[in-house]
Amino acid sequence: MKMFIEKITGMDIYYDNTTKDLVFNEKPLKKSIRTIEEMKNVISNKDWYNQVNPKRKMYYMFRDISKPKDKTTTEETNLRYDITVIPPDLMGDEYVKTQGHAHPFIPGTKTTYSEIYQVLNGHALFILETKDGKDTKTSYIYAKEGDIIIVPPNHSHVTINPTDDILIIANWVERNFTSDYKPILKNNGLSYYLLKKDGDRVFIKNPHTKCHSELTEMKPINPELLGLKKDESIYNLIKAPEHLEFLTRPNDFKDFFKKVTENK
Ligand SMILES: [Fe+2]
Repeated sequence: MKMFIEKITGMDIYYDNTTKDLVFNEKPLKKSIRTIEEMKNVISNKDWYNQVNPKRKMYYMFRDISKPKDKTTTEETNLRYDITVIPPDLMGDEYVKTQGHAHPFIPGTKTTYSEIYQVLNGHALFILETKDGKDTKTSYIYAKEGDIIIVPPNHSHVTINPTDDILIIANWVERNFTSDYKPILKNNGLSYYLLKKDGDRVFIKNPHTKCHSELTEMKPINPELLGLKKDESIYNLIKAPEHLEFLTRPNDFKDFFKKVTENK
């Protein structure tokens, strides 16, 4: 089955659910596969993990996608557009999710890089988490096709597919940094897991986290904040790359991030 995502990306691109390939201009893109083995630490139900094939494929990452005419701009501005495909699955009673990570500090600062996401197909539940003194603040955002989410600086994040549909998401991010998986692996995930209980979605606290953490709901951002129309592709931001500078120089965009974090 081919899933065409041309409208929301502005590119000749589709996901082939038979081969698990993302095909761009008729060619399959280079794919990174996340297996359950790599996610062992962050799964709620370790008994379930012990019964499954550790090589089970959980989700697929396709990095550094650009139209040929935009390639130089993405390189010169240190930006990268990626697509991730998360097919529906359950890890025991927990909804399938990304492994989760933090971003590194910008050299010479205590600020980490930010990131922007857009849902291209299906529905996603994003969990964002940040330290607040000794406490932790956790937020979740439910997002449908077209919706845009911003991961502000100094936030770790996980993306969950809480549905029976194939979730496809895109992101722009600073192209050279390496995500930091260690804190999340050490803490067995973020502060909350999303489980399926009697057909309902239920958050449970991660029993391994010592810190107190509130869980609050936030909303996707208003696309106008980025100069985009409703359901317009975030890929288009590369046409005026200064609109993506909040990713590489977040310290110069404090008012912008204030609006993003107050979006409840
Ligand atoms: Fe990230």
